[in-house]
Amino acid sequence: MPRAGRTGNRMYRQSPAVIESERDRLSCTLLHLYRSPSSGPLCGMFGAMSVTGLFAGIGGFELAFSEVGFETNVLVDIDPAARAVLQARFPGIEVRADVSDLSALPSDTTIVTAGFPCQNLSMAGDKKGISGPKSGVVKKLFELIARPEPLTVVIENVYFMLQLDSGKAMEWLVDRFESLDYRWAYRVVNTMGFGLPQRRRRVYMIASRDLDPRRILFADDDSSLGVSLPSLDRPLGFYWTEGRSGVGLTVDGIPPLKAGSTLGIPSPPAVLFPDGEVLTPSLKSCEELQGFPAGWTDIDVEHEGRNPEWRLIGNAVSVPVARWIAQRIRTPGEISNFIETAIERGGGWPEAGWNVGEGRMGVSAGDKPVVTRVPSIAQFRDSSWSRLSNRALDGFIHRAEDGGLRMPDHFLDVLRKAKRKDSKAS
Ligand SMILES: C[S@@+](CC[C@H](N)C(=O)[O-])C[C@H]1O[C@@H](n2cnc3c(N)ncnc32)[C@H](O)[C@@H]1O
Repeated sequence: MPRAGRTGNRMYRQSPAVIESERDRLSCTLLHLYRSPSSGPLCGMFGAMSVTGLFAGIGGFELAFSEVGFETNVLVDIDPAARAVLQARFPGIEVRADVSDLSALPSDTTIVTAGFPCQNLSMAGDKKGISGPKSGVVKKLFELIARPEPLTVVIENVYFMLQLDSGKAMEWLVDRFESLDYRWAYRVVNTMGFGLPQRRRRVYMIASRDLDPRRILFADDDSSLGVSLPSLDRPLGFYWTEGRSGVGLTVDGIPPLKAGSTLGIPSPPAVLFPDGEVLTPSLKSCEELQGFPAGWTDIDVEHEGRNPEWRLIGNAVSVPVARWIAQRIRTPGEISNFIETAIERGGGWPEAGWNVGEGRMGVSAGDKPVVTRVPSIAQFRDSSWSRLSNRALDGFIHRAEDGGLRMPDHFLDVLRKAKRKDSKAS
């Protein structure tokens, strides 16, 4: 696998589905905003716009921002496997380990990306909240952004953050932004709306002292993608590792990729295809289903633990969503029309909201802001996908039977007859 720098990403082989969705991206309403990677650094009203990537993981934000023409000055991640990917994919950029060890942001930083750890926030995590041992490191972010210069902060986190501890995690975040005079806006956005068949709803938040964050997150709105009912005529994604409570059933796509176990045991979802095959995607396909070039985490470095790549991909931000945000930071748009409702302190958090100095407002925005055709998950299927073992598939079927969840008609019957792992799927 060739290594590539920020502008060398075109060296990677792209699947037909990615190429097609890329084409769609170029023809979408944001075409005029796109800037080729070779166009050089952007200059805003305060000079070159440099990005500092905190909690950078494998650089989903930074890949997208660099494609839109922003320079990255430093990347920070505590995970050695993530740092190995960052060093290989962003050659020449300083990579540091612990956000807690930073005394200040580089002086030229104008944008901070911070997809902070979500283990204490997610449904799958321990739900200890924003002050939990992993997520609490976000406090350091507020020390770093307390400086007087104009700065824009971009955050991505799990949907559950809105509900956790009766909304206290969000309260904590916005209280701090407001006390530092940042205007903020957030919106739940679904990767499925960005040309990738992965149902991944995440909270994207922008806080800024100089930009109006509404002109970034709320300039685009599209509700033309309807909801499809599950049927066996179309591929159905599901988590075979679950079964008693929800299974994440997803029509013609996969449920959100997860970080997997801390031991690095991969647990990608499975897809039942109309031809009766039940297959799990390869790591390469999962990279593409997050919008990375295939092979992005394929680095020639000894890692601690087994298969850290699965964890890294499951933790990452979806690149096309990050690209949309980068494009809108570069060229803010006009705010679309939304119904606004005041957010009461101590109440729940809606799926979108803002405070630009006139109080906290909930906004009636959908989770798919731009018009993009979503390719079928079948376009990502190739010989690298595998069948499930007898144990895995039977285990799921038993749990599903016990759990009594409502499944599409004949779903379990077809799974019972599905071929098991004895050879690679064709
Ligand atoms: C949700 S992931 C962010 C993923 C990233 N946006 C991407 O596209 O890959 C959170 C990251 O924070 C890192 N992290 C946790 N504590 C940290 C710390 N104290 N300093 C730096 N990074 C930290 C984790 O290793 C993990 O990669």
